[in-house]
Amino acid sequence: RNLKMKTLCRRDINSLNDPFLAVFESLISADEEKIKQKQLLSILEKLVTQEWPEARLHMYGSCDNSFGFSNSDIDISLAMENKDIDRGQLLLKLADILKSKNFQNVKALPYARIPVLKFIDPVTGISCDICINNALAVVNTKLLRDYAQIDVRLRELVFIIKHWAKSRRVNETYQGTLSSYAYALMCINFLQQQRPAILPCLQKMETTYSTIASNIECSYFDQVEKLQHFGVENGESIAQLVWGFFHYWAYCHDYENDVISVRTGGTLSKSSKGWNARVGNDCHFISIEDPFEVSHDLSRVVDKNSIRVLREEFERAAEIMQHDSSPFVTLFEAY
Ligand code: GTP
Ligand code: MG
Repeated sequence: RNLKMKTLCRRDINSLNDPFLAVFESLISADEEKIKQKQLLSILEKLVTQEWPEARLHMYGSCDNSFGFSNSDIDISLAMENKDIDRGQLLLKLADILKSKNFQNVKALPYARIPVLKFIDPVTGISCDICINNALAVVNTKLLRDYAQIDVRLRELVFIIKHWAKSRRVNETYQGTLSSYAYALMCINFLQQQRPAILPCLQKMETTYSTIASNIECSYFDQVEKLQHFGVENGESIAQLVWGFFHYWAYCHDYENDVISVRTGGTLSKSSKGWNARVGNDCHFISIEDPFEVSHDLSRVVDKNSIRVLREEFERAAEIMQHDSSPFVTLFEAY
């Protein structure tokens, strides 16, 4: 394996910068889309508050964390003061309201682990998912958005990795591969670990933002406008970082022993988290700590078979980045 690690010469790899940036540009959503999403949110908020005056709607996920592709769905959390409310009943009632207003494909999943209501807005064609009091997701969405404002290379890297993962079908949690949220955390952690670092560890800095979400205290430094020059000492280009990301996950990460942790800006040992032993269905073939819900391993969905698929895909991508002079077709080739 070490033989494979011969680094590409800088001139070679940097010739890939413009094509990678073009991939990024082709995926970002236009401002008009953001406006449409905000308008839809306020229409929905009006409908919801007519029935439940104290309710508020918050966007989360890729429509609000700055890692959203164009045409991405919107994820909404309906915040209710009354935490004891029957979420399933509420969603069924909301489903009736939306049907009466001609929203399409309205489907409530009131008994899912996280009850959710899915529908499509007939005017814009935007798909939406609404769940109730998903406050942690709203906070981790803000954390991701704040990290993205520190160094533009994070946003570029996440878009390219998500595009790769979707093309190669390793962004499917129901098939045992990783969520977009998990990939975004892998990218943040990777940039935290570069030397000089490209991203800081916001949760280890002075607290300027603090909130309680689902009984968990979430606090970190959120004055990111003061960190605009944080990564400038590291001049790595986007092509070098994409190469480095795949190389790290193909050949350098210690899957047996390490947990990646954005909260600490590094890795932790599985034994320090009690994740080295198999407990029930949790195997921890790869471990990614949620930055706030620290007992939660975001890769718990990965099993014996899907870890093999994932690692083969990381190795495939690393090989392509290493040897292919124009990797754009092969890297993103539909699986
Ligand atoms: P795409 O829809 O693929 O563009 O990406 P996304 O950013 O919307 O990511 P995803 O659908 O994976 O998740 C949506 C949001 O739900 C994330 O941004 C997180 O805020 C939250 N989320 C997803 N998975 C988990 C999880 O396992 N635990 C927690 N706490 N939050 C999660
Ligand atoms: Mg989403």
